[in-house]
Amino acid sequence: MGDADSFLAANRAWARRLVEADPRAFERMAAGQAPEVLWIGCSDSRVSATQVIDQPPGKVFVHRNIANQVVPSDLNALAVLQYAVEVLTVPHIVVCGHYGCGGVQASLAAPGHGAVARWLRHLRQVRQLHRAELAELRGAARERRLVELNVIEQVRNVARSGVVRDAWEAGARTTLHGWVYDVSDGLLTPLCRRAPGGASLEIAPD
Ligand code: CO
Repeated sequence: MGDADSFLAANRAWARRLVEADPRAFERMAAGQAPEVLWIGCSDSRVSATQVIDQPPGKVFVHRNIANQVVPSDLNALAVLQYAVEVLTVPHIVVCGHYGCGGVQASLAAPGHGAVARWLRHLRQVRQLHRAELAELRGAARERRLVELNVIEQVRNVARSGVVRDAWEAGARTTLHGWVYDVSDGLLTPLCRRAPGGASLEIAPD
């Protein structure tokens, strides 16, 4: 797979296969979407939202950025969250981080420059918040723990958002989940969960 034409050829083959398997698939999709989950994940090419939970088109509403962050001043993330909760009324919101995350690795190194460095300032705040726990760890263990802590903090950010709090107050059953994906075996592990009406985040036993 090298040139853009091969992507277009792959697209035609994919659409043909989908219709062969389910002749009305595109007819239904043209009528609208009713996704069951908002997926907030990393932009990393190895962690494709629909593929890792094996879902067809129409099931997963997606927001991705470097290191799966939900920054309270990020209008893009907030707009996705609002639309998913208020219009699509998704029953589940997943924040998914992954081991081997380049954004997390960079946040543990000396600050770089430009937009990436500015974006990673938020991740450095997570690192700072958990500095005591992280100081006990070295190398890969420290990096893996920061991946996990970042997921937990981003789920907290979703729970604190006005959109989600208002929805819960109005009786919505939206449940928040924090998961981590392992690029070395393709498996997801739950880290935390926040049910509607729950007073705080339930951290999964390790
Ligand atoms: Co990543």
